[in-house]
Amino acid sequence: MKVIVCDNYDEVSEKATQLVEAQILENDHSVLGLATGSTPLGLYERLVEGVTLRGIAYKNVCTINLDEYLGLEKEHPESYRTFMSVNLFDKIDISTENTYIPDGTFDTAEEECLRYEQVIDSVGPIDLQILGIGKNGHIGFNEPGTDSKSLTHVVELVASTRESNARFFPSIDEVPTYAITMGIKSILKSKKIILMAAGKNKAEAVKTLLSKDVNESFPASILWNHDNVTLIVDRDAYELVKS
Ligand code: PGA
Repeated sequence: MKVIVCDNYDEVSEKATQLVEAQILENDHSVLGLATGSTPLGLYERLVEGVTLRGIAYKNVCTINLDEYLGLEKEHPESYRTFMSVNLFDKIDISTENTYIPDGTFDTAEEECLRYEQVIDSVGPIDLQILGIGKNGHIGFNEPGTDSKSLTHVVELVASTRESNARFFPSIDEVPTYAITMGIKSILKSKKIILMAAGKNKAEAVKTLLSKDVNESFPASILWNHDNVTLIVDRDAYELVKS
């Protein structure tokens, strides 16, 4: 795992932008694995700027997102499809049919999981996967204890994740209880992975990750089994590593 320590969140976003744009310049048919959450927002803002400032073209790029809530319509303001449209897809020249996000509205979610894993295999392999990290080490919605061989699957969200995401909903009761997520094995199929972490609230998670104890009780630690992972972290999130 390569570790890049940045001064602040802006620099984390900037570094990630450089790596994503380099990937697209190397292959304009790249497949990007994308994440939702607060962490990649600065990256997405810069990718939008890159279209006009640096002439980056998304016409032939495909994207595959990590996860989606179960039970939310695509148009729901808090669906991950809406998040991606608002923060990235509507602002770049990407074709909607090239953007893949699990469909959380299927009655038969298990079938949607199988279909989505086939998308990962047929559209992919993902050239470059962007990840955030949860305070408990989750990646995607793969909570502690998830099988490291898991493919796309349905998860029941743990209380801490629902509480953390409640800030986006009118009340915690409206935060969905289930989600579909790429599994850990699905994520590890990616050729390259960028893990982004910023802020003091991620410091414990970064410290645990960098202790190199590979353990399913801390899902991000399984990334040590992949040979091309770059952790981009700011000083606040790295502060416990030094001590
Ligand atoms: P955040 O979430 O980017 O909103 O901190 C990351 C995660 O929980 O995976």
